[in-house]
This record gives sequence, C-alpha cells and structure tokens, in this order.
Amino acid sequence: MEARVAICLIAVAIFGQTQAATVKHNKAASARFVNTTSCGGLITAEEGLIEYKLDANYGKDERCIWTIRTPLRTGINFTMNRMGFEAPLDGVKLWSISKYGISRAHYFSDWTDTPEDAYVDSTVAIVTFHSIFSIQGQGFSLSFKATPDTDYNLKYYQDYNKKISGDEVVSFRYPENAPYRNLELSTFIVSRHTEDQGQIEFNLTSLELDYEPFVGECHDVIHAYYYRSGISYNDLSRITPLEGVCHTSQVEPPIYHPGYLQKADAIIILLTSDEQNTSEGYEVSYKYVN
Ligand SMILES: *[C@@H]1O[C@H](CO)[C@@H](O)[C@H](O)[C@H]1NC(C)=O
Ligand SMILES: *[C@@H]1O[C@H](CO)[C@@H](O)[C@H](O)[C@H]1NC(C)=O
Ligand SMILES: *[C@@H]1O[C@H](CO)[C@@H](O)[C@H](O)[C@H]1NC(C)=O
Ligand SMILES: *[C@@H]1O[C@H](CO)[C@@H](O)[C@H](O)[C@H]1NC(C)=O
Repeated sequence: MEARVAICLIAVAIFGQTQAATVKHNKAASARFVNTTSCGGLITAEEGLIEYKLDANYGKDERCIWTIRTPLRTGINFTMNRMGFEAPLDGVKLWSISKYGISRAHYFSDWTDTPEDAYVDSTVAIVTFHSIFSIQGQGFSLSFKATPDTDYNLKYYQDYNKKISGDEVVSFRYPENAPYRNLELSTFIVSRHTEDQGQIEFNLTSLELDYEPFVGECHDVIHAYYYRSGISYNDLSRITPLEGVCHTSQVEPPIYHPGYLQKADAIIILLTSDEQNTSEGYEVSYKYVN
C-alpha cells in the first residue's frame, strides 16, 4: 500500500527522501533509465548511468554510496565506461545484497582496463566510491542494466539512502507504520556528506522482528554494517552476527547498551523477512560527529 510497498510490475522510480537534485528522469520511458552525477543516492530503474566527477579531479577522502534497485530482477550488469582513479587505492566497489547480507562483487580501480564489465547477482546492489588522503585522480562513468529475468522470491522492498551532517540526533524507524511485510528485502543507508571528514555514530534503539522467544530462533532478521573506507579499513564490517538478529533480547551488552554504538562513514541496515508472520521492525538513532 502506498509508497512503502512496491509490487511486481510497477515501473515507476521510487526515490528516497534525500535523493539529490541532479538525478534526471528519462520522461519518455519513466523509470527505465536514470542518470545521476550526484555523490551517492538511491536509483530505482532498469538501467542507469552514474557519472561522478567525470574528467574532473576528486577530493581527498571522498565517500559516495549509491543504492541501485532494479525491481525484481535476477541480476545487474555493470559497465565501467571510463575512470581516472589513482589505482589501486581509489576506486569503485560493487556489492550484492541478498537476504544473507552484503557481499563484495567487484572492484574497479585500474583505468587501463576500461571498459570493464561486472555482474552482480542480486536485484539490489550498492556502489561505493572512495578516495584516500592524496588527491591524484579523476572521476568515472559507470552504467548498469538489469537482466531481463525476473525473481519474485522477495516481493517487497523500501530503500532509503540518506545523508547527515550537523549536530542533531536523528531517529529513524522502519517501517514507519508497523508491521513490515512478508517476503521483504529492504535497505537503509545513512552516510556523511563526501566533503565532511567526520563520522556517523548510531545506536540500534529497538528491534522487534518475528522470532520464537523460547528457542530464540529468528524468522526475520536485520543485518547491520558499518562502512569505513581507506587504507587501514576493511570497507564494510558486519556489526550483527552472520545469521543476523531479530530481537533486542538477543543483543547482549556491550554491543547493545542501549544500542550499537559504532562510528563510520556510513551505516547500512538490511531487513529481510520470510513468508509468514511479521512484527514491528527496528529503530535507530544516529548523528554526525566531527
Ligand atoms: C543519460 O545518459 C545516456 C548516456 O550518456 C544518454 O544517452 C541519455 O540521453 C541520458 N538521459 C538523460 C535523461 O539525461
Ligand atoms: C553483461 O554485459 C556484457 C557486455 O555488454 C554482455 O556480454 C553480457 O552478456 C551481459 N550479461 C548479462 C547477464 O546481461
Ligand atoms: C505464524 O503464522 C502461522 C501461519 O499463518 C500461524 O499458524 C502462527 O500462529 C503464526 N505464529 C505467530 C507467533 O503469530
Ligand atoms: C548512543 O548511546 C550512547 C549511550 O547511551 C549515547 O551516549 C549516545 O549519545 C547515543 N548516540 C546516538 C546517536 O543516539
């Protein structure tokens, strides 16, 4: 129902609240093709193009994080058309997202390989761009196209791709109006603005998903990650255990006290549900720390 739910054959792009202004629609074919030149954001389309600082110098310690949603497809084909990175430390990474979590699919860095193709076997993917502390590179042009095959195993989704700066503490509840859906795979990302050099701190303040209290078995789970790039970091790190978590009672201190407290360039949370029973969802509070 309304914006929260995306049903099969909907061919309309759904943008997160913080979708940047430079995203353009191809009017003739609605959400078929979306181009962007912004640093990060949500793109819901069958095909698209990200051109970030193409033929222009990027800054130091840049971070951009895009969510690419190609509704109900089996995979996404990416082509790096052109890039001018300082290889091997600056580059673009592709990540696939499934109900089991996020896994790294490809790293584009060495411009001598262009054009370069990579395939991500999921209907939703994350694209990250990072640069380290030295400024010696130029941006890129990356296009993507969903495979023609459809996959209805996970029917519902809602994606958020937000940015934060300043001092305020923001709280985010998913879904806004409980319950979440069965057969859902939804994503939430909050990142710092690329020109900011601080970090994001967050707490998981509530977690009520479908589970069996006596055995403690989760039927639905969230997977939470923090993203920290740079030479001494491992990009995406799991905060939650491999199997995910579903209930506040499972999350022991010190990780949950009263929530997860981690600092990162971005926080990513996935919610995935099975085919029956549902519950409240989760809530996080986060802020930017300089
Ligand atoms: C998006 O980029 C493609 C490839 O450069 C171009 O052909 C198309 O016209 C662009 N569409 C919009 C709406 O800007
Ligand atoms: C991905 O793109 C490449 C190059 O255009 C093409 O050869 C390949 O068949 C595509 N793969 C899929 C799964 O669409
Ligand atoms: C979960 O769903 C099944 C099938 O609809 C139902 O029989 C069962 O009572 C539900 N369990 C809970 C805890 O709501
Ligand atoms: C997270 O929890 C800690 C400990 O209670 C608190 O000091 C901090 O301000 C909280 N941060 C946010 C962003 O809610």
